[in-house]
Amino acid sequence: MSEQTIALVTGANKGIGYEIAAGLGALGWSVGVGARDDRRREAAVEKLRAAGVDAFGVPLDVTDDASVAAAAGLIEGRAGRLDVLVNNAAVTGGMPQEPTRVDPATVRTVVETNVIGVIRVTNAMLPLLRRSASPRIVNMSSSVGSLTRQSDTDDPLKTGPIAVAYPPSKTFLNAVTVQYAKELRDTNILINVACPGYCATDLNGHRGVRTPEQGAAIAIRLATLPDDGPTGGFFEDEGVVPW
Ligand SMILES: NC(=O)c1ccc[n+]([C@@H]2O[C@H](COP(=O)([O-])OP(=O)(O)OC[C@H]3O[C@@H](n4cnc5c(N)ncnc54)[C@H](OP(=O)(O)O)[C@@H]3O)[C@@H](O)[C@H]2O)c1
Repeated sequence: MSEQTIALVTGANKGIGYEIAAGLGALGWSVGVGARDDRRREAAVEKLRAAGVDAFGVPLDVTDDASVAAAAGLIEGRAGRLDVLVNNAAVTGGMPQEPTRVDPATVRTVVETNVIGVIRVTNAMLPLLRRSASPRIVNMSSSVGSLTRQSDTDDPLKTGPIAVAYPPSKTFLNAVTVQYAKELRDTNILINVACPGYCATDLNGHRGVRTPEQGAAIAIRLATLPDDGPTGGFFEDEGVVPW
């Protein structure tokens, strides 16, 4: 097996995921660009390679069992193991999402991608992660999923709009991550959730105030934790995010 560190980033064709792939690639790692659209994935791989990154494409729709199984097969065939998984892919489901008016199908779609998609990808990759000397899993969450912050303030810059699909999907993801950390406590796998801050990407019509590159920094930090680093935590650049 190769000595080179192998990472997979889901939803890496654009936005923060692309910048996470670029940042991990700059460390000399081999980076799988997980993306569901062939053209967007190939364009991202090409751009990363032009920047000197050892990038490879991984066809991946996180909502599709067969696609996720094939992605695990591709990484196994290529590297025999996985060192770092960044579950970054997500959707908002579109706004508005007022609780009293939402179409339940919107909630289902968002949870399917942002929560069940993470569980599906994580479990498919776990056999490969268990072969790594220092496996790390980073789940991209958001501070809008922090119940403490949602309860402390009505400032929409901190809480996002009142919405019943996207923010609660991140609260759900946080809870899921804590359960993984508990089950994996006696292994060498560290799993944490990250908030990138409010970044200008397609997700929010580019209204964010930070760059995608700035948003990627916390994920890169959690992907490169030392063996005695934290697990089951929720972090942003400034430190711990309250649940
Ligand atoms: N931007 C922010 O201010 C902000 C703040 C807090 C948290 N976050 C979180 O940061 C992460 C990245 O967000 P972003 O702002 O970079 O969003 P983005 O630019 O909209 O990118 C989202 C990525 O996820 C992919 N994706 C969506 N559904 C998928 C599926 N079923 N299978 C595979 N890939 C799928 C998209 O692929 P396609 O191109 O094919 O759609 C795209 O590559 C997300 O988890 C988001 O919730 C973002």
